[in-house]
Parts: sequence; structure tokens; C-alpha cells
Amino acid sequence: MSDAIISVRNLHKWYSGVHALKGVNLDFRRNEAVGLVGDNGAGKSTLINILSGVYLADEGEILVDGRRARIGRPRDAMNLGIETIYQYNSMVPTMSIARNLFIGREPTRFSLFGMGILDQRRMREDSIKAIADVDLHLRSPDALVGELSGGQRQGVAIARAMHFKSKVMILDEPTNHLSVKETNKVIGFVRGLKAQGVTGVFISHNMHHVFECCDRVVAMARGEIVLDKPIGQTSIDEVHSVL
Ligand SMILES: Nc1ncnc2c1ncn2[C@@H]1O[C@H](COP(=O)(O)OP(=O)(O)OP(=O)(O)O)[C@@H](O)[C@H]1O
Ligand SMILES: [Mg+2]
Repeated sequence: MSDAIISVRNLHKWYSGVHALKGVNLDFRRNEAVGLVGDNGAGKSTLINILSGVYLADEGEILVDGRRARIGRPRDAMNLGIETIYQYNSMVPTMSIARNLFIGREPTRFSLFGMGILDQRRMREDSIKAIADVDLHLRSPDALVGELSGGQRQGVAIARAMHFKSKVMILDEPTNHLSVKETNKVIGFVRGLKAQGVTGVFISHNMHHVFECCDRVVAMARGEIVLDKPIGQTSIDEVHSVL
């Protein structure tokens, strides 16, 4: 038995004339953080967009926990425990932190007349806990996400993924435009995932960041995987040499 949580088999993707993924084979295992690197246009986002249900592959298959999975839309990925955090994440700036934490999964309670209504109190209480659990210090769950810094927003997105017990957390260039301090915080989060039993996939152009927080590095070039090694058995120079 393989301990792969996600296995990607012979994945192909074409965008009209562009062959963006050319038969990608890759395993993501339990309790590891994988750094996914490669130059602009290598196919990194295409690969993770397929895993997160944003795009469909044209050929190939995805196994989750050894079973063939159909990930046709983002909701399918969420139901399989795959959570994705983008550079500009999918939060609504005009809604509170608490509301954002529960987007699409709002808890309801029954009113006197048997109607499902939003359980505001539970959302508030659970979000205070979720935020504290990832060691994020925010004034109030009622603050609007639009008032948070980029790093704090990434923190809320991570808190959301942790709260809903994702099995796999994919971060596609989550540190772009963040300050050094906020970047270090995100790197700390990636490092901490393993302790929570979550598999991390960290996409970055900064090789130093990848080597700081990942166990394995996978390099892509022109739609193919050109290197896949444990961090301890490679170097930044070697990874650069294959891109
Ligand atoms: N929606 C799209 N429509 C058409 N072509 C696309 C689309 N998305 C990506 N591509 C093309 O597919 C190839 C792979 O792009 P992708 O975004 O996966 O690269 P990437 O490795 O994430 O690059 P970056 O590091 O710049 O984010 C590129 O040639 C790109 O131009
Ligand atoms: Mg990309």
C-alpha cells in the first residue's frame, strides 16, 4: 500500500494551443510538506487548479486515499479535504472574519418556527478558537476582512482550512506582496501543518522559502516534472540547474 494521500496519474491539460501539462505523475504523501517550484508558465498553477476543482484535466486521473476521484468543481475538492489558498485568496472583503471563516459551510440552527437560520453565535465562538489555534492575533472576529493586511488574510484562510480539518492544504504563492514578517509567519504555518497531520503543497518562486519549510521539492518545467527529491538530498543550485 502506498501512503499517498493524492496520486496524480498521467495528467494532461491543453489550453487551446498550449500543452500546459504533459503527462504529470506525482504523489503527495501523508504528513509531508512539498515545495512545488518552476519558472513562470511551468504548469504549477494548472496542476493545483485541477486538484482544487477550478479546471478539469483533459486526460489522466486523480486518486484520493487510493480511490479514483472526480473533482469537477471547488466544492468536490473541499469535500475531499483539499483546501487551496491563493495569492489573493477567496475571501469577501466586505464580510467579517467570522463570516468568511464559514463561507459555504455556515452553521444553522432552528428558529422557533423550524426555519434554519445562521448560527451567528457559533460562528463567532468557533472563529475565535480557529484563529487562536493558528496563533493569529486579531482584535475581533467581527472585523471586516477588508481591513486586514495581506498576511492576516492568509492567516484567516489558513485558520479556515485548519478548522475544517483539511487533509491537504495547497498554497499557491501565498507570500507574494507580503512583508518579511508576514512571510515568515506563513512559512511557520507551512512548517506547522505536519504536526496537525495535514499535507502541505507550497508553491513559491523563492527557493530559500521552500528549503526552509518543505520536506520534498518537486520542480516543473514546460509542463513536466523535472526533479522530485527530498530536501536533504538536493540543493538550491541543483534545483535551479534543471529549471
Ligand atoms: N486560463 C488559461 N488560458 C490559457 N492558457 C493558460 C491559462 N492558464 C495558464 N495558461 C498557460 O498554461 C501554461 C502554464 O501556466 P501556469 O499558470 O500553470 O504556470 P505556473 O507554473 O503557475 O506559472 P507562474 O509561476 O507564473 O504562476 C502557460 O503557458 C500559460 O500561459
Ligand atoms: Mg502560477
